[in-house]
Amino acid sequence: MAGIYIHIPFCRQMCYYCDFHFSVSLKRKEELLQALLIEIETRNDYLKNEEIETIYFGGGTPSILKINELDQILELIYKLYSVSKNPEITLEANPDDLSIDYLNGLKQIGINRLSIGIQSFEDKHLKQLNRRHDAREAINSVKNSQEAGFNNINIDLIYGLPGLTNKNWEENLRNALNLSIQHISAYHLSIEHKTVLANFLKKGKIKQLEEKESLNQFNTLVKKTEEQGFLHYEISNFSKDGYFSKHNINYWLQEKYLGIGPSAHSYDYKTRRWNISNNAKYIELINKNESYSETEILSLSEKYNDYILTSLRTVWGADLEKISREFGKGFHDECLKEAEKYIISGQITDTNNRLIISKKGKFIADKIASDLFIVD
Ligand SMILES: C[S@@+](CC[C@H](N)C(=O)[O-])C[C@H]1O[C@@H](n2cnc3c(N)ncnc32)[C@H](O)[C@@H]1O
Ligand code: SF4
Repeated sequence: MAGIYIHIPFCRQMCYYCDFHFSVSLKRKEELLQALLIEIETRNDYLKNEEIETIYFGGGTPSILKINELDQILELIYKLYSVSKNPEITLEANPDDLSIDYLNGLKQIGINRLSIGIQSFEDKHLKQLNRRHDAREAINSVKNSQEAGFNNINIDLIYGLPGLTNKNWEENLRNALNLSIQHISAYHLSIEHKTVLANFLKKGKIKQLEEKESLNQFNTLVKKTEEQGFLHYEISNFSKDGYFSKHNINYWLQEKYLGIGPSAHSYDYKTRRWNISNNAKYIELINKNESYSETEILSLSEKYNDYILTSLRTVWGADLEKISREFGKGFHDECLKEAEKYIISGQITDTNNRLIISKKGKFIADKIASDLFIVD
């Protein structure tokens, strides 16, 4: 099982919180598309003929591409890779791009999962984040998607925003849950270095939410989604039965993936590789047939730490047998030893040889994982 990720590094506007790789200048879109096609062609041995089960257009804003541009990419992948019979093909989309015509086009070229970046259903907060859409457009984008026949829809939401009260957040969740969607990804706002929000914070224009408030909002999220039949299958991800993101599960369980485009990462069990995060240089180097990426050979403990970090965030937890088998008895014993205090405090359960973070431990999952890390 393997997946392909394609990074579309363009956005129409810069959101104040975002530090993903993108450019708001679309001048080189055509050239970049050609470079993506070259990368798809030249790296087709990376996954060694493994069956491709998932294809994911992420960004940036993939919905900036025209239907025929997305189709060109998909056609080349189908031509050069062995794509499974029913792959999951996801497109991250911004609400303001989702007209009925565009959605019909997406459906026609085989996109079968949408991940819509809604972030908030409140105009005040959408403005605070410098989003292009308003709450009405957010709701309409989901309704249009459903009308076009999409039945596997995720929406992204952000909580923990400056000034967001628990009541506001509940209202956001009510809006989301009224939309009959299959999946919600809800992230706590992270104020990233060099973003506009970081600058606002420095100047005292905004205040970070208190940890107690953030925890309240996380608990509300877990409770409200659970009441509506969503399974909390990863710290930030909630899904109706059968609608997990296969592509992301692939990452969390450390299956192979090929990342295409500037800033995209790839993983082949042994190495991690990342492409240059600069559109102009990516285009130039690809055209000159020169290297545009760096590669790191992973040590056993790095692989183990990655596994702990991602698996502990999921409902399936960390598999102790797998740890013994793939990393050795030393890693297994050390892991159990470090986990003991959390087992005693009830923040981790040891169920059927799997370490699973309990409800009580979920909000501090990353801290727990880092305590279980092994440093060479
Ligand atoms: C890279 S974005 C791409 C999606 C699409 N461009 C959009 O914005 O609608 C993926 C998601 O990451 C989340 N995200 C990005 N930066 C974040 C931050 N600093 N804090 C919390 N969530 C963030 C947002 O929910 C966003 O929809
Ligand atoms: S959140 Fe999405 S639309 Fe906004 S800047 Fe980041 S990638 Fe672009």
